[in-house]
Amino acid sequence: MKNYLLTPGPTPIPPKILEILAEPIIHHRTPQFRKILKEATEDLKYTFQTKSDVFIFSSSGTGAMEAAVANLLSPNDTVITIEAGKFGERWTEICKAYKINTEVIKVEGGRSVEPEMIESKIKAQDSKFKAVFTTLCETSTGTTHNIKAIGELLKDTDTVLVTDAVSGLGVIPLETDNWSCDVVVAGSQKGLMLPPGLSFISVSQKAWNLIKDSKSPKYYFDLSKAKKASDKTDTPFTPAISLVIALRESLKMIREEGLEKRFERYKKMAEAVKRAVTSIGLELFAEKNCQSDAITAIKVPENIDGEKLVKTMREKYGIWVAEGQAELKGKIFRIAHMGYIREKDIIRCLSVLEKVLHSLGYKFKRGETIKVARAILK
Ligand SMILES: Cc1ncc(COP(=O)(O)O)c(C=O)c1O
Repeated sequence: MKNYLLTPGPTPIPPKILEILAEPIIHHRTPQFRKILKEATEDLKYTFQTKSDVFIFSSSGTGAMEAAVANLLSPNDTVITIEAGKFGERWTEICKAYKINTEVIKVEGGRSVEPEMIESKIKAQDSKFKAVFTTLCETSTGTTHNIKAIGELLKDTDTVLVTDAVSGLGVIPLETDNWSCDVVVAGSQKGLMLPPGLSFISVSQKAWNLIKDSKSPKYYFDLSKAKKASDKTDTPFTPAISLVIALRESLKMIREEGLEKRFERYKKMAEAVKRAVTSIGLELFAEKNCQSDAITAIKVPENIDGEKLVKTMREKYGIWVAEGQAELKGKIFRIAHMGYIREKDIIRCLSVLEKVLHSLGYKFKRGETIKVARAILK
């Protein structure tokens, strides 16, 4: 049975990239690899929409998150973390591991943070906060924060804005420089159409000013070491050579399509999924004003076994959607529309969703989701 991944990472990989991944290995301390690294780094800057430094690590996205904390801060520093789901919580957990004091702004699942909540904290305690940790797309709830507005608040302060764009980069708008995002982290296995294994981090001048005073322990993820090597178009350690070569290709594909066109395409797929599922009476988990175009979180209808729904789609039909995480397990399911997920995958997924919902006893007009989605996608 063929498997179709509509999960928020890993996402499908284009055939052209699979071919590149199967090529014989080359050595990294060579002009051949340096050229590839240079091109990949330049195209990463395009995708991040930044002129600042962008570094590549061999790790999953969480590695770059940890790099942000370890490099920017020192024990006993105080920061704000925004928690609107599992990945916002991860910032708090990493900060705690590095003995950083965290002032948590907790947002109810399905909502996004009100920038005013951050503003009042910053104003009340007068630049006590070294950084604010945010999430572009909170994958666990299908929401997106208003990073632009948060950047506007922080841009003339000493507080650094750190954004987790692991599931948002290359899928939904993020203007790193224009929105004053000092540090942005991302991973390879979502919007960038690659296997897991690479993470990325961009670093603004304002962030470098904080980095030079950081006393947290670091070795592999030391950004100063990464910068020294990168200035010579090199890496401090053995890079994930094949993945970097594949990255150059995926970024080329993104540049050729153009970010604007890409964002439009995902927006359309998101609209198709959202309108299709609500047309049969399902409810979206995220509130209207903060729904992500990268992933749709859907409430499991009453009297339907959410875990069985996801399992049957996967085991009987090869359609992989994601369950809810932690306390949302069994209560929501999530359909991703990021990376190399195409319109026809969305239609296939909806058709299987209908079949399985029907088999579980959910009452609705059959065929409706396909009709609605096709009308939007055509
Ligand atoms: C928003 C967000 N942040 C961080 C992560 C963690 O990334 P990784 O699993 O690559 O470490 C994920 C992965 O699902 C994510 O969606």
